[in-house]
Amino acid sequence: MAERQQWRSKLGFILAASGSAIGLGNVVFFSANAYKFGAGAFYIPYLVALLLIGIPIMILEFGLGHYTRKAFPQSLGQVAGKPGEFFGWWAILNACFIAMFYITILGWVVAMWVGSFGGLWQDAIAVPALGKEAGEWAVPKAYFYSQITQWKTAGFVALIWFLNAVIVWKGIRSIEKAVTIFVPLMWIFMIVLIVRGLTLPHGFEGVLFLFTPDFDALTKVHVWQGAFSQIFFTLSLGFGIMTAYASYLPKESDQVNNALMTSCLNCSFEFIAGIAIFSMLFVFAIAPEGGTLSMMFFVAPQGIAALPFGAKIFGILFFTMLLFAGLSSSISLVEALASGLEDKFGTSRGKLVVMITVFGTVGSILFALPMIVNQGTDHAGVLGLTLLDVIDHWSFKYGLLVAGLVECVLIAWIFGARRLVNSINETSRIPLGSWFVAFVQLVLPLLLVVVIGWSIKVEVEKGTLYGSGHIDNFAALGYIGFAVWVLGTLGGAFLLTRGGGKEVVADA
Ligand code: PHE
Repeated sequence: MAERQQWRSKLGFILAASGSAIGLGNVVFFSANAYKFGAGAFYIPYLVALLLIGIPIMILEFGLGHYTRKAFPQSLGQVAGKPGEFFGWWAILNACFIAMFYITILGWVVAMWVGSFGGLWQDAIAVPALGKEAGEWAVPKAYFYSQITQWKTAGFVALIWFLNAVIVWKGIRSIEKAVTIFVPLMWIFMIVLIVRGLTLPHGFEGVLFLFTPDFDALTKVHVWQGAFSQIFFTLSLGFGIMTAYASYLPKESDQVNNALMTSCLNCSFEFIAGIAIFSMLFVFAIAPEGGTLSMMFFVAPQGIAALPFGAKIFGILFFTMLLFAGLSSSISLVEALASGLEDKFGTSRGKLVVMITVFGTVGSILFALPMIVNQGTDHAGVLGLTLLDVIDHWSFKYGLLVAGLVECVLIAWIFGARRLVNSINETSRIPLGSWFVAFVQLVLPLLLVVVIGWSIKVEVEKGTLYGSGHIDNFAALGYIGFAVWVLGTLGGAFLLTRGGGKEVVADA
C-alpha cells in the first residue's frame, strides 16, 4: 500500500489548519454577532465556548486523525465500527452542502472584488432586475444585487471551484504550497486594514464600543447559543476537516499543542478583524447590523467607501483578503471529502477531484440562480440566495453541532475517551488528566444537547424551525430544503457506508 503523504513541516500543517479555521466567518460573522449580542459582553460567552467546547473538540478531532491516520469516516469506523463510519459520512455530506454554498459566496466575493476596481464606488446604482431606482439602496447593496441577479456570477462560482480543484489536485503537497502564500498575505492585508481603521479620526472610539460590555446580554439564551455556534463554525469543527488534516501528521506530533496553536491563531485573527471593522464603521456612524452577508457585502464596503482617501485601494485589499481567507477554508472542505473517498475506494486523486468539482459546481450554481421568485422578501426573492438560506439553516445551525455531539459520544462511550487520551498523551507535552476524560464523557455531550435542544425549542416556539422567517409566502421551500438535507446526508451516508470499497476494521 502506498505510504500516506505527510506535511513537509509543522509550519505547513499549522498554516493549513489555521487557514481552514480563518475564513469569512472571522472577518464578518464575528463582528456582526458581537454587535448584535452585546458587544464587549459577547466575549464572555465566546471565551466560555472556546474553552469548554472549541479547544476540547479540536483536541479530539486532531487526536482521532493522528491516532488512526485516516480520513474522518474511516477514523470513526476504526474507533466505533460501522455506525461510526456511517456517521462520519453523514458529517462529510453535511459539510458538502456547506462547501457548495460557501463556494457560491466566494463567487460573489469575486464579483465584488471585480467591482472594487470601479463599479462599486459609483454615486448611485439601479438594479433593473428588482425594479429598484438608483439611490433606493446604498451603492454596495445595490451593486451586490445587481451582480447576483445575473448569470455572470455563476461563472465566478465555477472559477472558484476550478481554483479549489487545482489546489487540492496533489493533496497536501499542493495545499501546503497554496496556504504558504494565502495565509501570510491575508494576515498582512488585515493588519494594513487595522492600521487604516485605527489611524482614522475617532477610529479608536469604535474599538471602545466593541469592548464596552452590555451585561444584560449575558442573561439571554440566544447570545449563548450564538457564541457556541460561532465557535464551531469559526474553528472548522464538526466537518471532519481537522481529522483529515491531522491524519497526515508525523507520529511524534503533539495534538494538544497543535489544537492550542490553531485556536489561538484563529481567535486572534477574529479579534483583530473585529477591531479593523469596528474602527472603520464607527467613524462613519455606520452600525454593523445585519447578518453575515450584509456585513460583508453592504456594510463593510460602505465604511470603506467613506474613507477620506484610497477607498478603492482599501476596498480591493478587503476583498482580496476575503478571497484568500475563503479559499484557504474551502480547500479544506474539498480535501475532507476527497481524502474520505480516496481512503475508501482507493480511486486516484485526480479522478476524484474532477468528479467532486463537476458535482460541486452544479450544486454551487443552484445557490447562484439569479431568477427573482419572491420579490419583496428579506433577500429580494433571488432564488439562489433563498435556497442558500434554507440549506444553511440546517447544515450550519444544526448539522455542525449534531456532528460534534455524535462524534464526542462515539469517541467517549464506544471507543473510550481514556484510550484516545492515552494516545494523545504519548506525544503531548501537556498531558491531559483524568478530568479531561470525565469532561469529554459527561460535560461536553451535555452542553451540546442543551444548546441543540434549546435552539430547537426556541425555533419551534417562534415558528422558524424550517427557516420560514426568510421565505415568507414560499413556505414549501423550507420543507423541501429540510427533506433534501435529511435525505441527502442520511441516504448518501447509507450508500457510501454500504458501497463496497475498503472495509474498515474496527479496533477491538
Ligand atoms: N472556519 C471557517 C470560517 O470561519 C468556516 C469554514 C469551516 C469554512 C469549515 C470551511 C470549512 O469562515
